[in-house]
Amino acid sequence: MKIVLVGNGGREHALAWKLAQSERVSEIVAVPGRYGMHEVAEYLPLDWNSTAELADIITMQAPDLVVVGSEGPLADGIVDVLTKREILVFGPTQAAARIESSKVFAKDLFARYHIPTAAYGSFTDADKAIAFLDEMQAPYVIKADGLAAGKGVVIAETYEDAVEAIHSMLTGDAFGSAGEKIIIEEFMVGEEASLLAFVDGETVIPMIPAQDHKRLLTDDRGPNTGGMGAFAPAAVVTDAVYEAAVEQILKPTAAALVAEGSPFRGVLYAGLMITEDGPKVVEFNCRFGDPETQVLLPLLDSDLADIMEKICTGHIDQVRLRWLNAHAVCVVAASFGYPRKTYRGDRITGLAEAAAQDALVFHAGTRHIDDSYFTDGGRVLDVVAVRPGLAEAKEAAYQALSKIEFDGMQFRTDIADKELLRTQK
Ligand code: AMP
Ligand code: GLY
Repeated sequence: MKIVLVGNGGREHALAWKLAQSERVSEIVAVPGRYGMHEVAEYLPLDWNSTAELADIITMQAPDLVVVGSEGPLADGIVDVLTKREILVFGPTQAAARIESSKVFAKDLFARYHIPTAAYGSFTDADKAIAFLDEMQAPYVIKADGLAAGKGVVIAETYEDAVEAIHSMLTGDAFGSAGEKIIIEEFMVGEEASLLAFVDGETVIPMIPAQDHKRLLTDDRGPNTGGMGAFAPAAVVTDAVYEAAVEQILKPTAAALVAEGSPFRGVLYAGLMITEDGPKVVEFNCRFGDPETQVLLPLLDSDLADIMEKICTGHIDQVRLRWLNAHAVCVVAASFGYPRKTYRGDRITGLAEAAAQDALVFHAGTRHIDDSYFTDGGRVLDVVAVRPGLAEAKEAAYQALSKIEFDGMQFRTDIADKELLRTQK
């Protein structure tokens, strides 16, 4: 198979790394990809201005299978366009991708199908939204409806901050059309976990649970980010929580999408809050998570290309997942200024030394010039170690990371610490 992979982050590097291990795969072309993936994939550093242009770039490659990493092209309907051209593509249609691309669509679906989530109201009018605050308690959770690259959520500690967030989303243009509608929802208390599943229609094949670390700084301080590290499996998802999440959240959501005429095919990602009353949905994503993918795929002991092809050809019933009996930890190295501002161009050293520690180094935001790598994005590198035990995996990931240097490098020192405390009890 020749595979075209859409994207260029650490998640896509991990996808390419895993797909390249398949005996069935002869060639992988990442669009746009980046040089840092060159050991596992070619890359085509092209830009596109529309879904049709992206579809043309992909079509010219004559792929046997297309894999879409990020939500943007899915929300824009790349799967619909490629399917019309009879190109096999792994990912949901534009209509099914609304589970991520419209929070109002998702919340209304959860309400209609009794899928556990935070109580909410949706608004286009600022006065009505502000009036609704009286029915809620601080902290107030305010979300822009559309895709906002992880920045569309405000957790306001005070009424005044909540009012300001409502105004800036609905009347400001900080979020463009993504902010024309907003959600105000109940604040849920608990620990978060990510449960991803391969899905086709009503059939759901869950993966092992993972945990992301969304805040920038050690001890969950600082601003929210795209994710500063992850580990899998996650013991906070006990057998009972896992069962509840699959039976009460993942399967009913897949079934609801079928019932609404937008069946989902691809990876469905449930962002869960493990509350006292069991797991509830924080959000759904319509694709692999970043950085969860960087810990899930190294533990997956099955052929990913084969799984994806089976799903795309209507044979999900033949898919069985096997997992290594091991633990994976991923630590993200981010550039100076992340997530506020992206500084680029700092020279990176120690990559080969890091990889020599029996670790994986996925490139999220690097650029290669004259035999050297330079920072070229907010999240720069993902260092992943897989070991029999979690403590060893953490130590190995940090040992490998310690070889890497660049000016202004930011990373958390506590990835997986909460899990270690919990499981060592
Ligand atoms: P989202 O983009 O919807 O995943 O939200 C980003 C982050 O905000 C989540 O990962 C949570 O940490 C937090 N968050 C979102 N909604 C809630 C909620 N209803 N209660 C508590 N925390 C939330
Ligand atoms: N790790 C969060 C996300 O992929 O959206």
